[in-house]
Amino acid sequence: MSLSRRGFVRTAGLGATGVLSSSLIIGRGSEAWAFEPEQSQEYDDGLIRISSNENARGPGASAIEAIRAAMTARMGRGYPPDHTNALVETIAQRYGVDTDNVIVGTGSGPILAAATRAFCSPSKPLVTAAPTYGTPEATARRIDVEARSIPVDGSLSLDLDAMATAARGAGMVFVCNPNNPTGTAHPAADVETFVRYVKRDSPDTAILIDEAYIDYTSDPAVRSVSPLTLEFPGVFITRSFSKAHGMAGLRVGYAIGQPETVSAIRQAWELGSMNTLSAAAAAASLMDTDHIAEERRVNTRIREYTMAALRDLGFDGPDSHTNFIFVDLRRPAVDFRNACLDLGVRVGRDFPPMENRYSRISLGTMAEMEAAVRVFRQVLGATAQTG
Ligand SMILES: Cc1ncc(COP(=O)(O)O)c(C=O)c1O
Repeated sequence: MSLSRRGFVRTAGLGATGVLSSSLIIGRGSEAWAFEPEQSQEYDDGLIRISSNENARGPGASAIEAIRAAMTARMGRGYPPDHTNALVETIAQRYGVDTDNVIVGTGSGPILAAATRAFCSPSKPLVTAAPTYGTPEATARRIDVEARSIPVDGSLSLDLDAMATAARGAGMVFVCNPNNPTGTAHPAADVETFVRYVKRDSPDTAILIDEAYIDYTSDPAVRSVSPLTLEFPGVFITRSFSKAHGMAGLRVGYAIGQPETVSAIRQAWELGSMNTLSAAAAAASLMDTDHIAEERRVNTRIREYTMAALRDLGFDGPDSHTNFIFVDLRRPAVDFRNACLDLGVRVGRDFPPMENRYSRISLGTMAEMEAAVRVFRQVLGATAQTG
């Protein structure tokens, strides 16, 4: 007999009110809404939601405290946006750059869209990967820009050589490092070699390095390439507060590059109007490096536990540098997804062209993953040994 969703959640001891306290909700802000809007309809539904790469723990104490401190009559003031300028100054200070090297947006998603509009056109294609994060390609489609999608290589890493070749004459190359959904990452040295090659071979091509998940890597060779962005026109990084900082619901992201580069992005598209509380929380969180280190430790423990459980069942995937894993379950993602959903666990959507074998599982809290692993054993156990 299969357990009903509600019954399962009760069994697992994770009733909706227990899991979703208000600070935790701030850490949620479904990544899926952009690609599968219907998924965001259900929210407080008692499901274990490990389908979007959110942060189940929410923001750190310093960010919550900053929000509390900012809840004064000053919230009635917002024009001109002093709070945004203060956040830009904090980001500039943290990276050792000038304030005109920084732009902020309501999430990094709008910056990815704006950058595609700024640098691509019908005569200047986008180079992206397959699979990778979809916003640049979705934006390109909207504005009749050709997208050259370069398949990931045999280890599910971005094929930087093939992307560099495809970059000749392109408007922009999108390099997601670490990559969503495969979780793989390239060392900073490889990204630097790639950037130097492309800028020599195709100087007018912009390069977007999306570092949304980079705080989650434990590999010291995988680092931000922010210093490179100051050296080359059109080279920039984007960062998000939605992942390790636990603020998906607060919508804050930023980009760093040469002043002309970030200014071209800002002028291409609306990046959103940030609210006072989000800006205060983001600035506090950025300076709280201890919290991010702890968040990385906790996430790594949960990732290792979940991966070990799946390996025990006979399934594997690439080493992840992120808060999700991409696992070769040797079956269509839709079958796994539906079977898990029947047992109260929502896992990730299809990621073409790998949807016939691989599923993406985002990482929740340890308690959520223990409950999810029980479901995975039920769903996968029967077929685990059949290869
Ligand atoms: C690689 C990557 N970049 C950017 C984003 C956009 O995040 P946000 O707009 O919340 O900053 C996401 C969201 O999941 C992502 O996975």
